[in-house]
Amino acid sequence: EPVSKEPTNDKVEELLSQMTLEEKVGQLNFIVGDALQTGPASVTNDGERLEMIKSGKVTGVFNAPGAEFSYKLQKLAVENSRLGIPLLFGADIIHGYKTIFPIPLAEAASWDLETIENGARVAAKEATSAGINFNFAPMVDVGRDARWGRNAEGAGEDPYLGSLIARARVRGFQGNDLAAPYTLAACVKHFAAYGAPEGGKEYNTVDMSERVLREMYLPPYRAAIDEGAATVMTSFNEIDGVPASGSKYLLDDILRKEWGFNGMVVSDYNSITEMINHGVVGNRADAAKMALESGNDMDMMGLIYSSEIEKLVKEGKLSEETLDKAVRRVLKLKYDLGLFENPYLYADPAVEKKEVRSKENYDAALDMAKRSIVLLKNEKDLLPINKNVNTIALIGPLAENKDELNGMWSFFGENQDPISILEGIKQKVGPGTKILTADGADFYSDSRSGFSKAVGIANKADVVILALGESAVMSGEAASRSSIELPGVQKELMQAIQKTGKPIVTLVSSGRPLAISWMDKNIPAILQTWSLGTLTGPAIAEVLFGDYNPSGKLPMTFPRNVGQVPIYYNHKNTGRPYTGDYSEPASDRIYSSRYRDVENSPLYPFGYGLSYAKFEYSDIQLDKASIKSGETLKVKVSVKNASKVDGEEVVQLYIRDLVGSVTRPVKELKGFKKLMIKAGETKEVSFDLTEDDLSFYRRDMTFGTEPGDFKVYVGTNSRDVKEADFMLM
Ligand code: NOJ
Repeated sequence: EPVSKEPTNDKVEELLSQMTLEEKVGQLNFIVGDALQTGPASVTNDGERLEMIKSGKVTGVFNAPGAEFSYKLQKLAVENSRLGIPLLFGADIIHGYKTIFPIPLAEAASWDLETIENGARVAAKEATSAGINFNFAPMVDVGRDARWGRNAEGAGEDPYLGSLIARARVRGFQGNDLAAPYTLAACVKHFAAYGAPEGGKEYNTVDMSERVLREMYLPPYRAAIDEGAATVMTSFNEIDGVPASGSKYLLDDILRKEWGFNGMVVSDYNSITEMINHGVVGNRADAAKMALESGNDMDMMGLIYSSEIEKLVKEGKLSEETLDKAVRRVLKLKYDLGLFENPYLYADPAVEKKEVRSKENYDAALDMAKRSIVLLKNEKDLLPINKNVNTIALIGPLAENKDELNGMWSFFGENQDPISILEGIKQKVGPGTKILTADGADFYSDSRSGFSKAVGIANKADVVILALGESAVMSGEAASRSSIELPGVQKELMQAIQKTGKPIVTLVSSGRPLAISWMDKNIPAILQTWSLGTLTGPAIAEVLFGDYNPSGKLPMTFPRNVGQVPIYYNHKNTGRPYTGDYSEPASDRIYSSRYRDVENSPLYPFGYGLSYAKFEYSDIQLDKASIKSGETLKVKVSVKNASKVDGEEVVQLYIRDLVGSVTRPVKELKGFKKLMIKAGETKEVSFDLTEDDLSFYRRDMTFGTEPGDFKVYVGTNSRDVKEADFMLM
């Protein structure tokens, strides 16, 4: 019989007091079924899983396919287990459930917090109606290395942008009431600094100073928690020699004590057991003890709490109070989700049918997708293309493809749902336009057998659209690459087509920054199209033909080649910065921080993205030349749309603290505004800079400001800016 939700804590205590040791441990054991893997081979099979649920040995399962199935499992737990504690249903709803949105990195390129929040809300709506109440998202790991496959899943390289996006996603998933029907628990991951593996290699060692950790990597997790995220997932990596899944420093000192997080912490997939491989524990019992004592409440897939904890407590090696703390947090989460009141709240096949892939959801996905596209180059205004152009040649492995379009981590997405680029273009062009298509090449092989057909149709066309890039599995988890070039022989294909002399637009689909220097030099128009999900074709077509004026801005620096990686805009100046100034003595240039064979600058800087409109920035106006502690500085510019088309611009504000007790980045994003500026119109944009924006971890690791000179920059990306000076007194 379901118990009433109020008052939460008494109910939790009451339940806890009735639980056996075995039942307590069961509440920490999170598993997946055999059919539904997202990690190394499963340790349970379906039959065993059902028995475990009935005997209260399982707290929840993940990747349950649909409302009917989760209803069945929930019934087993509620009606057959002794205490009838309902199950959690977890899943990785990273960018949509069935209606697939752009990959998170693409969404981040919109710099559009409202649309991102809405995307998360739609995902929550579909997922909850299919039975899911616990979402392993948002991933808020900062990433600075394009080789790392999971950049695709995050918000890029910047802690400020990343923090705002983290908040937006948490709001979208959780709403204001976890117990409401269409909201689910967010899980902030992967705590901590999972985005900084050495060499960009997945699951690799992370090592960084506490200062970099706190300044560059921790802010998005903190922001998500301040926004009320219900749960946190630990990361696979070690930091400073200690695996995150058993790190008291991360999980207790920082997360709970410093940040006041009182939600539930879940390990990553088998990550507690993997502490044996890391080499900080020699056996399963010690791994379980270390994890639980550090504050890692729930074991995902390791079946290690379930095999070790009871014995540890009985032998007096682990206090029952430690176990109770973890169980309490799990039960509290279930109460907060409203599961005790209505365990079937999240599983109704009729609701599922109505909500999943609704017209409204498709519209939202299209809106997000077009806002995620970044215009990287548009020589002589080649774009937008006239809808009545005679002949288009659409060439490349993504020209007609559907199954790559959902992108990485679209576990529940159907491969044939997406609308292809070809279909999108067909829907847009006039009746007289002919479209010729050829694959030309694929993602993997070095076969050039498709080149001649591709060149043939290019020769017949007025404009060529090249749909190139990575396949879906080339980014995401376990998808690091040592090369960030276009895979296969796609570059050669592009070169062959370029020789035709036809005007070419390239669509670059990828889950990471690719090194596209040759393309930038030789192809007149380039759109970064990431993986855009179900509505890929229509979104791209809207941009190609000018129904939507692109407004995306890169959330990660695009390097010239892989050797520049890691490359990020908020780097330090060094003692020997390279200025490239030839009026200085040659020796100053030679003995400076740079490579001999490539420029220091990236191909496209952070925050970069063009529009079909042209924006002109005025000089910066400050309301004062200096501010005192506690005061606010007003920073103003006007931005004119000096073109004949309406367009949206992301106006970006950066600062630099010139002298500090520790070195400061050459630029730090501290504000941005995305606004529509009509053709010919001028808009005034103003920002408030506060003491908090000027604060940092000082030499003694206290957080605060230091008086002195600052620069403030406002502009269209992190490179092209106006600047002004002010002083903090
Ligand atoms: C491992 C991944 O690192 C994590 O992000 C994901 O939530 C789990 N697998 C479950 O699929």
